[in-house]
Amino acid sequence: MGQELPTADYKIVRLANGVHSLHSVAHRETFHPVIGPVAEARALYVDQLRLRERLSAHPDGVVIWDVGLGAAANPLAVLRATGQIKGRIQLVSFDHTTEPLQFAVTRSDCLDYLLGYESYLKQLAAVRHVRFLDHCLSVDWQLCLADFPTLLMQPKAAQIPKPHAIMFDAYSPARNPAMWTQPLFANLFRLLDPKRPCALPTYSRSTMLRVSLLLAGFYVGSGHATGEKEETTIAANTLDLINEPLDRRWLQRARKSTSAEPLWEPVYRQAPLRPETWEKLRAHSQFSAS
Ligand SMILES: C[S@@+](CC[C@H](N)C(=O)[O-])C[C@H]1O[C@@H](n2cnc3c(N)ncnc32)[C@H](O)[C@@H]1O
Repeated sequence: MGQELPTADYKIVRLANGVHSLHSVAHRETFHPVIGPVAEARALYVDQLRLRERLSAHPDGVVIWDVGLGAAANPLAVLRATGQIKGRIQLVSFDHTTEPLQFAVTRSDCLDYLLGYESYLKQLAAVRHVRFLDHCLSVDWQLCLADFPTLLMQPKAAQIPKPHAIMFDAYSPARNPAMWTQPLFANLFRLLDPKRPCALPTYSRSTMLRVSLLLAGFYVGSGHATGEKEETTIAANTLDLINEPLDRRWLQRARKSTSAEPLWEPVYRQAPLRPETWEKLRAHSQFSAS
């Protein structure tokens, strides 16, 4: 796989609430800057996606994509919340580097969410695959080590197990625009199984992101507050998984926004909707149905 190895190094920062998080020096971003890794992962993914209920309802197992593995706070929050459920979980993590994971594993004295999982994480970083029994839960965890936007365009991406849920946790669009382009979300949507309901929460609530997801084919709604953000975003390939779909009032606000046009290239900029983008957006079935 085409690896892009960043030259970043990482450090541990202590947040105001006393919790520790990783910080990427190269991207000048703290992974979970306000409430910390565990609380954010629980609110944004575990609770919002109702993962415990969905796991209980799927005896054959659920497939979860973890985009931006980083220091593994999101998948480990999932495992800690579901370990007591008798079931199967298939985790597919994506990142173009194992550096933050390898660094974090050496600092489980501060990052206590890692405790007990260190040997599995070392194996994941070393050979990209690990299987284990976590209490009652059977875990199959693979790592796709690649540039994510490039991977999505390759035929082999179609072989990756189709997800029931996607945790989307890249750095911010201003610092990491390649992970937030409209073509990336369009390629991601095309890889879903239309017969398998799938939801994608993410921490941003930006109009630009929401327009990108809608034009990619997703339904989009307001996502849960996390303690860090009063509103986030949830997208899905079925309206049934969205509690609060964006409505026509949001559409009118998007029309007036100075930052709504998707990123078509991996270069950050802000711009109002182009007339042709507006025409596509207003024709989305989410708004004709509401
Ligand atoms: C905010 S961090 C993720 C934090 C992580 N979810 C956690 O819980 O610790 C963003 C991650 O996205 C990864 N990333 C950034 N650009 C990428 C790309 N083009 N392809 C794959 N991964 C990328 C970074 O290496 C980084 O680990």
